[in-house]
Amino acid sequence: MRPTPLWQTDVRLPSFPALERDIEADVAVIGAGIAGVTAAMLLQRAGKRVALIEARQVGGGETGHTTAHLTELIDARYHVLESKFGRDGARRARESSRAAIDRIEALAAELAPDCGFERVAEYLYAETDAQRRELENELASLQRAGSSASWVEQVPLPLAIQGAVRLDQQGRFHPLAYLRGLLARFVADGGEVFERTAMLDVDEAQPCRVRTSGGTITARDVLVLAHVPVINRLALHTKLAAYRSYAIAAPLREPFPDANFSDMQDPYHYIRSQQTAAGTVLIVGGEDHKTGKHDDTRQCFERLAQYASAHFPIGEISHRWSGQIIEPADGLPFIGKNTGADHVYVGTGFSGEGMTFGTLAAMLLSDAVLEVKNPWAALYDATRVKPLAQARKVLSEGADFPAHIAHDRITGGEVETPEQVPAGEGRLVREQGKMLAVYRDDGGALHARSAVCTHLGCYVHWNRAERSWDCPCHGSRFDIDGAVLNGPAIKPLAQPGAADEPTTVPVETAALQGAK
Ligand SMILES: Cc1cc2nc3c(=O)[nH]c(=O)nc-3n(C[C@H](O)[C@H](O)[C@H](O)COP(=O)(O)OP(=O)(O)OC[C@H]3O[C@@H](n4cnc5c(N)ncnc54)[C@H](O)[C@@H]3O)c2cc1C
Ligand code: FES
Repeated sequence: MRPTPLWQTDVRLPSFPALERDIEADVAVIGAGIAGVTAAMLLQRAGKRVALIEARQVGGGETGHTTAHLTELIDARYHVLESKFGRDGARRARESSRAAIDRIEALAAELAPDCGFERVAEYLYAETDAQRRELENELASLQRAGSSASWVEQVPLPLAIQGAVRLDQQGRFHPLAYLRGLLARFVADGGEVFERTAMLDVDEAQPCRVRTSGGTITARDVLVLAHVPVINRLALHTKLAAYRSYAIAAPLREPFPDANFSDMQDPYHYIRSQQTAAGTVLIVGGEDHKTGKHDDTRQCFERLAQYASAHFPIGEISHRWSGQIIEPADGLPFIGKNTGADHVYVGTGFSGEGMTFGTLAAMLLSDAVLEVKNPWAALYDATRVKPLAQARKVLSEGADFPAHIAHDRITGGEVETPEQVPAGEGRLVREQGKMLAVYRDDGGALHARSAVCTHLGCYVHWNRAERSWDCPCHGSRFDIDGAVLNGPAIKPLAQPGAADEPTTVPVETAALQGAK
């Protein structure tokens, strides 16, 4: 089964032309996921002329690969936020997350009544004594942050647990039906959308000039909401780590409680149901791992399917998909002006809460452009410097870029020659001093590209489940013919023999020290 998100089977988003000329706008928005579409719609509605560009298709990024729990829970945990941002910071993080859910509810009611937005409880449950102690601690922090979260000994699931935190008035919806409603309003208000139009670079002059694959956009303000900070080559990437997360959907054979759930395993599972035309399905997500660092990604789907079948009354798996999660090193997203810029803004590091944080980014950045004071802007400042200790995991895995580069300079290929690459598989092959990423399709034809990631030069790794080339350094992903699937890379993998094919890892000390 090729990966396809549940959401894409029942909602088709409209398509838009590619940009083929130079244009002017008040604001250029890069990336048409929940963050970019919401920001574009809010700004156009406030009277700005907005051009929204999308490298591929609207909603085709992580917003089309989510599981769409809307929750004030934060991956980093509130007791960690208290230690990094103080109790007031944790309180403001909760308050702003709630405000984002409230905004989604209001926009859904106004613009996307068919997106099935509903308020439900979210349970975070412990299955061991150690998890229970951590959860008790988290509840205390949540309550200090102003949450009405409460302790319960049981959840309405057939599981033996050690207690849970229950949060009322959280939410869920169909992300693409929601996006469709916001896009319709944006276009009706005169907003312009361009698909298959990739931002190549931004000149931060006055006005800014956004060079794209189809023309230049001249705009006073630029919002880079591409999930990763594609304009910020290094400064932000040292504070972010990219993970893959997996999800499956299957028809439910018995009624399922009207609530969202997540456990505390490492990696954890997240569980919810969804109404579809064919009946109610269960969606289970989890099996996260650092991008480019798993030998057989198909096993992630298999383990998820086994977990779901062992615990819940489901039929055959109908959908499976995976996507990218960007974890910020100090626990909160980076939203605000890009380093050293006055009119270029970024929003990234939304963790597994990108529905709420993406919406929050749109709220904060539209306020910034409209010069409206926002009470949460300082908390999310994209240029902040904090002790990077949210997750030792993020730090130890996210800071391994120099080690990858050093290793890549001396490593050999995974097989000796392209002929040894099996059908349906990809392997690294070293030929004449150059490392190639070679894929053999099911018909036997070989597809070869340079294995050197075009972001900062690590070697890409084969992802079996997605049939893609994934970079372990900052999470860029490429298809079998080298096209960019996920940034921060902007350029495709080079053709072997092409003038721009790197002979070795093209990262120089200057780039490490000076790139922004
Ligand atoms: C399996 C999974 C489960 C998840 N579950 C949840 C959940 O339950 N709750 C929750 O809140 N969040 C969840 N998330 C996270 C959430 O889905 C994302 O954080 C969110 O969708 C990010 O939205 P975005 O608009 O920032 O990015 P995207 O939706 O990825 O949009 C960014 C767009 O920018 C485009 N782009 C990139 N580079 C360029 C360029 N150079 N030029 C032009 N366009 C460009 C991309 O093509 C993309 O379409 C989950 C994620 C995954 C993968
Ligand atoms: S994503 Fe940064 S080097 Fe590949």
